[in-house]
Amino acid sequence: MNNDLFNKFRQLIYNTSGINLSDQKKALVVGRLSKRIHALGIDNLKDYYEYVTNDKSGQEIIKLIDSISTNVTQFFRENDHFDFLKEKLIEWKEAGQTKFRIWSSACSTGEEPYTIAITAMEALNNSFFDLKILATDISTRVLEQCKRGEYYAHKVDNIPNYLLQKYFEKKKINNEWIYIVSDRIKKLITFSRLNLIDTPYPMKGPFDIVFCRNVMIYFDDKVRNMLVDEIYRLLKPGGYLLVGHSESITSTQTGFRIVKPSIYYKP
Ligand SMILES: C[S@@+](CC[C@H](N)C(=O)[O-])C[C@H]1O[C@@H](n2cnc3c(N)ncnc32)[C@H](O)[C@@H]1O
Repeated sequence: MNNDLFNKFRQLIYNTSGINLSDQKKALVVGRLSKRIHALGIDNLKDYYEYVTNDKSGQEIIKLIDSISTNVTQFFRENDHFDFLKEKLIEWKEAGQTKFRIWSSACSTGEEPYTIAITAMEALNNSFFDLKILATDISTRVLEQCKRGEYYAHKVDNIPNYLLQKYFEKKKINNEWIYIVSDRIKKLITFSRLNLIDTPYPMKGPFDIVFCRNVMIYFDDKVRNMLVDEIYRLLKPGGYLLVGHSESITSTQTGFRIVKPSIYYKP
């Protein structure tokens, strides 16, 4: 792919998703798009660019973003965030709060929202509560996986055994163990497609806690600031924003106060 064509794809991807691809990502883009054109039976990336930009249904651009986005995730990833979630839920419960709203804003294949749900079930144990978790992502492919809630054994390595037994069913399919999230966990979560660059977001909020982890790294400052402002608007006063351990926000611009690295508080 020549640089001109790479720049065209890069601009298209940025305008559609906010994902900001550096020059170093050219090989990755070529590799991932080549798979897509092979599946479509298109000969070269120039023709594919014409195809995607002329597709009035809007479906191909979704497929393109699906193939470009990086979906690495894990159950209990950056585990101190789940300790923090548990601590806050117990604190709020003891103060008499019964309604809890949590948003996983780039949920990938579901490990993050399911970990939130399991942690919340453990924290709110044996009490009356009204808990709803919203889980969104730009990728329709990962959202399908989320809804299935089925994971191979190596994906559930990080889950303590007692939680695995409590919140998953186990089935052998084609000689491999598959762990399936139990219905009582699934029903706490609504999965839905949301592009974080499409502001204002349609949800009413307010949320108690928003997880926006390991997605801001793909955005530039302009998109990141827009996103952080929207999350600020949708959080309750006294609510928290959690970002990935390698991410940070310029809290002075938004009114957020930093609690500790990667955890922000809306006063
Ligand atoms: C690396 S995963 C992070 C998953 C999870 N939050 C975690 O920390 O483990 C990044 C996710 O961001 C999603 N994403 C990228 N651009 C997005 C956008 N503009 N709107 C919503 N989601 C986006 C990708 O589809 C991907 O699933």
